[in-house]
Amino acid sequence: MKLHAGVNMVYLIGLMGAGKSTVGKILARVLKWEFIDLDHKIEVLTGKDIPKIFDEEGEEGFRNHETKVLKETAGLNKKIIACGGGIVTRPDNIEFLTSEIVVWLNLTPAEAAARLGYSPDRPLLSGCKDTLVELNEILTERREAYAKTAEIHIDSGDQSPEIITGNIMIALERQRV
Ligand code: S3P
Repeated sequence: MKLHAGVNMVYLIGLMGAGKSTVGKILARVLKWEFIDLDHKIEVLTGKDIPKIFDEEGEEGFRNHETKVLKETAGLNKKIIACGGGIVTRPDNIEFLTSEIVVWLNLTPAEAAARLGYSPDRPLLSGCKDTLVELNEILTERREAYAKTAEIHIDSGDQSPEIITGNIMIALERQRV
């Protein structure tokens, strides 16, 4: 397992339920790097959980925190960064990520819905009538942005986190920066 010297930060993007945190932790362990979850960073920064931020500051307020913590990762070394699913909703974030190594964990809305079930901790889903319909709409809006932001596309719907991690490693080993 040998990574090119320029491969020293990896960002994971994709729909809620894609496995970014689970896979990110395994990948970090394999590489002996640190794992950072941007949603967790936002919670620490604000002292509030994600539903409370949406409640008190709206989605716009949450997105402002998200952009801030994303940009704070600039210049770090040996980190696996799990981004929230909506990171690609801001052109500014996409521009930042375009110069980084980004992996899109791609799955169908049905696979995501089956994984997530009822999700009170995800404000975009907790108020909706039908999780599958909502996820379908969200993915339709974001698919193109996920695809263009990430150079590496990995199917994550029907595989175990270990297999997904292995597939990411294969792609990273091919990466030349
Ligand atoms: C969001 C995804 C969530 C979290 C917030 C908004 C989104 O993160 O950032 O609820 O817009 O897709 P996960 O993708 O880790 O669930």
